[in-house]
Formats: sequence, C-alpha cells, structure tokens
Amino acid sequence: MAKIALLHGPNLNLLGTRETSIYGSVTLAVIDERVAAAAGAEHEVRPFQSNHEGALIDAIHDARSWADGIVINPGAFTHYSYALRDAIAGVKLPAVEVHLSNIHAREEFRHKSVIAPVCVGQICGFGWRSYLLGLAALLDYLQDRP
Ligand code: DQA
Repeated sequence: MAKIALLHGPNLNLLGTRETSIYGSVTLAVIDERVAAAAGAEHEVRPFQSNHEGALIDAIHDARSWADGIVINPGAFTHYSYALRDAIAGVKLPAVEVHLSNIHAREEFRHKSVIAPVCVGQICGFGWRSYLLGLAALLDYLQDRP
C-alpha cells in the first residue's frame, strides 16, 4: 500500500475550459477520479490543487508526515519556482513531474523545468493520461526501491 500526494499547481483548476486545444476538455475533478481509480483500493491518493506557491510548498512539507511519494503538475511554477524545487528536494520524497502538454514542443520558456532535476523523472505530452503514467511510474519506482 503506497500513499501518494497528487499535487496540481496554478490554473489547473480551470481544466475543462482552459485552452482546451492544448490541455483537453477533461476537468481536474475527473482527472483526480481517474487517478484514484487507477490507484485502486490498494493505494491511497490524496489530491490537492492550489494557485499559490506557498500553499503547494506547505502541502509538500505536510506530505513528509504521511506520503510515500508525490505526483506533481506544478503548472507554470515548473519553469521558475526555485522555492517549489527546494521543497521537493528538502522533503526527500520521490516525486514524478507530470504535464498534460509536451512542454518541450511549446514556447521556449516552457522548455526548462527547474523542478525536474529534483524529481525521479518527468512525463509530459499525453494529456490527462500523463497523470496515470506518472502514477504508474512512481508506484513502480517505490516497489523496486530497496
Ligand atoms: C502545464 C504546462 C505549463 O507550462 C503550464 O504553465 C501549465 C500546464 C501542463 O500540464 O501542460 O499550467 O503544466
């Protein structure tokens, strides 16, 4: 049984209506349901979304007391939040960074992630399925870890 913190950054609460040609039309609530369904009864997933950097940092610190790992879509914080990066590095929980869109195929400023270097890995470009792939990758990682 693994406990996973599922964290969503700024503007992801608008999924379903926000730039649907890029992010698709699935809402965040539906993504959370699909991730929970994929985790099944065997694992526990606790979702949290915030538009505020500090609230996400607090959620990462809090995860230290209960979670085995983190799946995070940091939204635009991906590209410049050293504070979020330091939080992930600081709690020493394995984290997988996910994005709906392929950030490497978009504007130049999205090509860089300051978060990825402190994560186990990054998954992007598969729409809402990026979250399922991220969860599967993290669960496999946790299982194989000595
Ligand atoms: C995103 C990509 C980011 O560049 C953007 O700021 C987002 C969403 C994605 O899931 O594709 O808010 O993280």
